[in-house]
Amino acid sequence: MKVAVVGKGGSGKTTTAAVIARTLARQGIPTLALDCDTNPNLGLSLGVGEERTERLIAVRDAVDEGDEEHAGSTAELLDRFAIDGPDGVRFAVVSAIDNPEPGCP
Ligand SMILES: Nc1ncnc2c1ncn2[C@@H]1O[C@H](COP(=O)(O)OP(=O)(O)OP(=O)(O)O)[C@@H](O)[C@H]1O
Ligand SMILES: [Mg+2]
Repeated sequence: MKVAVVGKGGSGKTTTAAVIARTLARQGIPTLALDCDTNPNLGLSLGVGEERTERLIAVRDAVDEGDEEHAGSTAELLDRFAIDGPDGVRFAVVSAIDNPEPGCP
């Protein structure tokens, strides 16, 4: 199941996304939370802390700037860019895919 949380500014998207992710993970459902917001603060709402959130944002910025290579697969993305947060939520800060190739996961 994939869940996307969207809405107008300040309407509670980040809070809602974090509650959904942690609630699913607490039930034993493997859960990956991806923050692709231009103002990425899902890590704070998930409870991974400021330092780790900032580190993941820096990784995304490095990928966007071309200083870090894109992951070639979902498995590689999870391995290289994601961390384990509270309740076992796997978490990464990612970019939107501007021009996906056919078959892009
Ligand atoms: N259900 C709720 N009831 C009351 N306050 C809430 C609720 N959900 C979120 N808030 C509060 O509303 C504010 C905005 O929430 P949040 O940051 O989750 O919104 P957002 O849509 O992600 O904002 P942004 O567009 O800036 O990313 C925060 O102070 C948050 O604590
Ligand atoms: Mg938000």
